[in-house]
Amino acid sequence: MSTDRDWDRRADELAAASVAESPTRWFVQLWGEAAEDRIDTPWARTAAYPPVVEHVAAAGPGEGRRAVVVGAGLGADAEHLATQGWAMTAFDVAPAAVELARDWHPGTVVDYRVADLLDLPPDLVGAFDLVVDVFTVQALPPRVRPEAVAGVRALLAPGGTLLAVQFVRERGEDPGVDPPWLLDEDEVRSLAAGDVVLHSLDRRGHPLNPAGPDVWVAVLRRGT
Ligand SMILES: C[S@@+](CC[C@H](N)C(=O)[O-])C[C@H]1O[C@@H](n2cnc3c(N)ncnc32)[C@H](O)[C@@H]1O
Repeated sequence: MSTDRDWDRRADELAAASVAESPTRWFVQLWGEAAEDRIDTPWARTAAYPPVVEHVAAAGPGEGRRAVVVGAGLGADAEHLATQGWAMTAFDVAPAAVELARDWHPGTVVDYRVADLLDLPPDLVGAFDLVVDVFTVQALPPRVRPEAVAGVRALLAPGGTLLAVQFVRERGEDPGVDPPWLLDEDEVRSLAAGDVVLHSLDRRGHPLNPAGPDVWVAVLRRGT
């Protein structure tokens, strides 16, 4: 049941009011309202997402290699990677999300920063051995999807790996007007372009909720 503090309902309102003009303004507003304790905390996941845990375990210790989490929210995935020896950057377009992530993880070694996937700071481009995106591409409207996907790819260093986790949309199913705008198989395959090739694509049941939608787990690599 929705309440005044229901962040999901507020997200729908804010997105409906501004996403036609700006793909990201509603995130800045939503996280700002959460930081002011006017709504419950959005995407308040305290543990790393299971496909991230699994991928990182298989990849072995980070040993100081550089990794980045895109649209990092409260930082559960970035913090987990840091414990596995990765030198972590985690960015979000919403300044309040970055502040909350720092608050949630006092003494963190993760470099949390404000940055826009659609307009990346030059020092992030081509800088990472591992790029992790959990549900950020699908949070951006289809009209900017080519830029979002290009942004994710652009973060990869030569030889780097991209792990992308997105909810499944069936081919031909209407993506709808409200976020999130789920990816069909062709869209998730379109993460590969140029020297970034698809290494594996799995469709799995929802990792946390048996009644929830399936997820794509895509692993891509940039050539050396
Ligand atoms: C659906 S939430 C997922 C958060 C987190 N990855 C998780 O799984 O809990 C999407 C996140 O991406 C951020 N975001 C949206 N557009 C972005 C952009 N263009 N650049 C960076 N972050 C963005 C939002 O502020 C939000 O925190």
